[in-house]
Amino acid sequence: MKRSFLLLIFLLLFLGSCGQDYNSNYNDRGTYADIGIPAGTPLYNAYVLIQNRCFSCHSGAWQDFKTDQAWMDSGLVSKGSFDTSTLRNKLQNYGGNMPRLTSSEIDTLKTWINGL
Ligand code: HEC
Repeated sequence: MKRSFLLLIFLLLFLGSCGQDYNSNYNDRGTYADIGIPAGTPLYNAYVLIQNRCFSCHSGAWQDFKTDQAWMDSGLVSKGSFDTSTLRNKLQNYGGNMPRLTSSEIDTLKTWINGL
């Protein structure tokens, strides 16, 4: 009896620790201090999105692009033109199992790039 009680407690603790979805650190990672981009700016919103949806495969240099200028200098973003930006066009061809963004995610990128 006592033993099965302990087992139950253990099981509950174990299950409790599994209740995290992949985004559970989103807010921790999304702070000004961690990212180094002023929170709430279009670049910040885009960076958080790219961090969550793209860094798993494009982690290298992209992580260091923390200013609008850095993204433009990389050639991935065309100033003020989402439609001609490599970031958008390569993604649209869906090579390499790249993710399909939702329309609100696309809007986040569009707002950022078109506003540059
Ligand atoms: C599952 C892995 C994966 C994810 C996630 C991913 N990509 Fe890619 N991406 C690739 C691969 C592989 C290539 C190279 C193959 C190709 O060009 O078709 C690539 C190429 C690219 C390129 C052209 C090459 C370059 O680096 O200039 C761009 C731009 C790009 N991806 C944008 C994105 C964006 C934006 C996201 C997030 C919304 C994203 N990718 C998420 C795998 C991924």
